[in-house]
Amino acid sequence: MCGISAYIGYREAYPIVINGLKRLEYRGYDSAGVMLFDGTNVQLSKTKGKVSALEKITEEEEERKVGNIGMGHTRWATHGVPNDVNSHPHTSQSGDLVIVHNGIIENYDTIKRELITRGYSFQSDTDTEVLINLIEEVKKTEGFKLGKAVQIALTNVVGAYAISVFDKNNPNEIIVARLGSPIAIGIGKEHKEFFVASDASPFVEYTKDAIYLEDEEMAIIKIGKHVKVRKIKNDKEVKPTIQKLKMSLDQIEKGGYDHFMLKEIHEQPKAIKDTFRGRMLPLEGEIKMSSIEDHLDKFLEANRIIIIACGTSWHAGLVGEYLFEDMARIPVEVEYASEFRYRNPIITNKDVVIAISQSGETADTLAAIKLAKSKGAFVYGVCNVVGSSIARETHSGAYTHAGPEIGVASTKAFTTQITVLTLIALKLGRANGSLASHTFNDYIKKMQLIPRQVEELLNIDSHVKDIANVYKDAKNCLYLGRGFNFPVALEGALKLKEISYIHAEGYPAAEMKHGPIALIDENMPIFVIATNKGHYEKVVSNIQEIKSRAGKIIAVVTQGDVQVKEIADHVIEIPDTVEALTPLLTTIPLQLLSYHIAVLLGKNVDQPRNLAKSVTVE
Ligand code: AGP
Repeated sequence: MCGISAYIGYREAYPIVINGLKRLEYRGYDSAGVMLFDGTNVQLSKTKGKVSALEKITEEEEERKVGNIGMGHTRWATHGVPNDVNSHPHTSQSGDLVIVHNGIIENYDTIKRELITRGYSFQSDTDTEVLINLIEEVKKTEGFKLGKAVQIALTNVVGAYAISVFDKNNPNEIIVARLGSPIAIGIGKEHKEFFVASDASPFVEYTKDAIYLEDEEMAIIKIGKHVKVRKIKNDKEVKPTIQKLKMSLDQIEKGGYDHFMLKEIHEQPKAIKDTFRGRMLPLEGEIKMSSIEDHLDKFLEANRIIIIACGTSWHAGLVGEYLFEDMARIPVEVEYASEFRYRNPIITNKDVVIAISQSGETADTLAAIKLAKSKGAFVYGVCNVVGSSIARETHSGAYTHAGPEIGVASTKAFTTQITVLTLIALKLGRANGSLASHTFNDYIKKMQLIPRQVEELLNIDSHVKDIANVYKDAKNCLYLGRGFNFPVALEGALKLKEISYIHAEGYPAAEMKHGPIALIDENMPIFVIATNKGHYEKVVSNIQEIKSRAGKIIAVVTQGDVQVKEIADHVIEIPDTVEALTPLLTTIPLQLLSYHIAVLLGKNVDQPRNLAKSVTVE
């Protein structure tokens, strides 16, 4: 997955494109590049490394920054190692055409061989260089304009793309297209300038008018003209929908925090409140969600709910399983989207599939949705990014309203996904009679307290930092939890792995004795979620087992706990709530702990190595 940022208009393009790339670095950051056109020459600057490395190169030569047309790229390598040559933009053989690309051209090898027989040679190992030469070949042999050549070339490729293409011989236009990877076009006043980007964040301070291309659409962007959108396959012109952006600049800036991850951890009280807004109506004793109400029979008549997701969203799905089964007594299966899509799953029109995704762009989740739909299932999406591919592909759904999440490690996305799932479970439980009205009302009362409790919990930051200091040099860690908090243990371990590169495993606490207990010695920190609800006594026994083997216990307990405090090496207290809601609290100290360990180890918290925020490739 990669980030695209482009500009065409009357301003200097360089600062707009570079700032845009910085905002898109969550999408990939192993190499970066920019093309500037000054009216005569195309200037290319590319380098391995981050956008800051690219800036260093361009600083050396002023002329590299001049021009009112620019296209930039930040890369997450798929074809070809991250190096200067493989970085985008790529040019065609003649040097006239320039492209930036996010996605994969699967049949690039066949096309490349064909182009080689026609006299083309290649500088990089990328599929993108093949695509720009294919466009050049079509343009040359058919005598087409750039737009038509792009369209014809794209009908010959298999794969996924969001592209922006420029021809220096026709410099008042940019052609963009999408299939499977997002692309947004920002429209400046009186069509005097346009912005192109993988999401709207690069141009939010310049315009609030944006077009999000649909799959298999291309746009011809010409200075002074309305954007023309056409279907790639049948050349049909479509009237683009211009959306008003709700995103604001402060949402995508760090706002005084050292890292986006820390900012996003601290945003959780508000994010959870925003997820409730307009849905949880305590006075009416009701949960209002038209996306569920409009399809209530589908949910109530469902044989089962299948939850599909990846990574952190999959962990939220596991919490969802406990919630739905407990509150609504509906059987649930939770599947890794990547496994589900390839194992010929048994799905019928009596199944409801819930797809969870922060970005709404995860390739495996998207493919699993398409499969479920093709087998007749009703598919409901839980996404954060408004207008994302998954939000559009599902029959119905709910946004989490967490606001932009930029840190690669998901934090507020997780808690708001759980919040939405809790609202749905409560609603279904009430609707099918599994929850008595007093139990339902009690849950609502407790739910309402959660944002304030999370806020209170965030005050333990310095205590967690002290604990992080003690265990930052550990080589391996275990995370244990039971019931609703088993998925939180998995998520805690994932957070630590992702940003500190310490090996960590999450387990159901009782499973420890079936294997992982062999790992325990005095060097092994074990993070145990031991709240006073559910299986408290059993978890206490598990803690005793660890202590007898000299393991170090860091326990997340409920305020006022006595028993675990006596045995654990460290405790972190959370406010009291009902068991089903504890994941919204227990996860907070584990997020903070990973954050502090990563900072103490000097790791790049927001952009951990090898990772990208949303994974739009298989
Ligand atoms: C979370 O910290 C991860 N970076 C990752 O596991 C993520 O949750 C996963 O890639 C799924 O992304 P999505 O929610 O955007 O679909």
